[in-house]
Amino acid sequence: MHDRFFLTTPIYYVNDAPHLGTAYSTVNADVLARWHRLIGDDCWFLTGTDEHGLKNARAAEERGLTPQEWVDQTSRRYVGSWAALDISNDDFIRTTEHRHTLSVQRFMQAIHDNGYMHKGLYEGWYCVSCEAYYPESDLFEGRLCPVHERPVEWLTEENWFFELSRFEQTLVDWYDSHPDAIFPDSRRNEALGIIKGGLQDISITRTSIDWGVRVPWDSAHVFYVWYDALVNYITAIGYGQDPERFAKWWPAAHHLLGKDIIRFHCVWWPAMCLAAGIDPPAHYIVHGWLLVGGEKMSKTRLNQIDPVELAADIGVDALRYHLVRDVVLGSDGDFTYEGLIARYNSDLANNLGNLFARVAAVVASKCGGTGPAPRPAAPGVRLSEVAAEVVLACRDAWQRFAAHEALEATWRLVRAANSELETAEPWKLPPGPALDAALGDALEALRIVAVLVSPVMPGAAAEIWKRIGLAGRPDEPGAAGENGSLAWGSYPGNLPVMKGAPLFPRRSVDS
Ligand code: MSP
Repeated sequence: MHDRFFLTTPIYYVNDAPHLGTAYSTVNADVLARWHRLIGDDCWFLTGTDEHGLKNARAAEERGLTPQEWVDQTSRRYVGSWAALDISNDDFIRTTEHRHTLSVQRFMQAIHDNGYMHKGLYEGWYCVSCEAYYPESDLFEGRLCPVHERPVEWLTEENWFFELSRFEQTLVDWYDSHPDAIFPDSRRNEALGIIKGGLQDISITRTSIDWGVRVPWDSAHVFYVWYDALVNYITAIGYGQDPERFAKWWPAAHHLLGKDIIRFHCVWWPAMCLAAGIDPPAHYIVHGWLLVGGEKMSKTRLNQIDPVELAADIGVDALRYHLVRDVVLGSDGDFTYEGLIARYNSDLANNLGNLFARVAAVVASKCGGTGPAPRPAAPGVRLSEVAAEVVLACRDAWQRFAAHEALEATWRLVRAANSELETAEPWKLPPGPALDAALGDALEALRIVAVLVSPVMPGAAAEIWKRIGLAGRPDEPGAAGENGSLAWGSYPGNLPVMKGAPLFPRRSVDS
């Protein structure tokens, strides 16, 4: 029986170019999606772009373009960057697509028809960058947005309100009966704190701009960008258009998001779902911020790093590895180039790269380039014991969204394989069973490592797989599942091993 795993990233604002911060979100989602495919789950991985709102209307106007022309240009940057970072999304949603307009209108109409909307006058402090109103008490000194530290604007308008205040108790009860709905626990407490602090009705439409999804029952209004954006998650699985598909994937959704947008996702969105008559999403995975010099990376702070440039420099796999290995999911992490290079040299160049190079060199010099088979798993066949323990540790870590621990465990096997080689010294052994055992065991360890790292380093994993002579791919769906290929002993031996160029040439900070 395969589980279903519907995974989403936030949809990104197109006024900002993809940067290492947004790449951090997307890469973390990608590794999770790849792991779930690897254990045989039926996975659907969604990302996309958030294209309505005042910011885009203004940016287009400044450039003499229509908003649609502008977002067509800017959305493409995300598609290109994610392809360059080996992101394996199954769908890419744009909120300006027709399928999305239809879903938003049907979803909002349901909320309206169920009696959770009323018309009223709204005025308040609005941050154009957040596309959100803030209570005076949340503003920084000088009436600055608490996220962007930029002046907010006073807006007054008549619009439609969603009666969020009616969902306080329902949301508390829902979270009580779904104790694992938010990872990590600290973020669950934060969401509950917001809810228990009291919820006010929220204004969800506006008449002052046109660039949005039109309110079906009152055509002078469009929906605020946030409300239209949240609906993307259900548009993509057929809400209001393909009931069978929708029933397959909802509510078994996992929303991955940054800690900056908890209120929208963990308070507004489940209430809106309940008001529309559908279940709230089952699960949220909240990650921290990637910081540069202690600050969040963002356009307004001018501290953005282009992930595609960085990947071209150090390699896509190495960049993905660093992001996942060195920032614990759920906590903030500081990005430095020195940190990236240090991790690259220690884990990739000196450990994994070196292991592969040594094994391939000795297979070439002592076995005519043909890799021997490993010994059968047995007590005392140390790598078979370490591998079994590491596979269990990895499964457990991924289950807890602790990919960094899974990598740490995998490197126990890499290091054990290197240390076994140092003990056996196959380069000094004559041809015979001892030489074959040392090399066969190391090749089998490499094969298992290739499967285990494939969610994080798909390119390097495939390369190792190919160079040790295996057909197919390490990330075959189900490879890490119950009947997959992680049990010790699948490397058949008698395969051509190719040394090739170094997998991870050593780097210095300025080379
Ligand atoms: N468009 C909204 C989301 C709507 S989802 C229905 C939005 N977009 S955003 O482009 O500003 O940011 C989206 C997400 O990008 C954040 O929640 C976070 O996941 C990620 N990040 C942006 N900068 C980041 C860092 N510096 N560090 C980590 N993640 C970052 O909000």
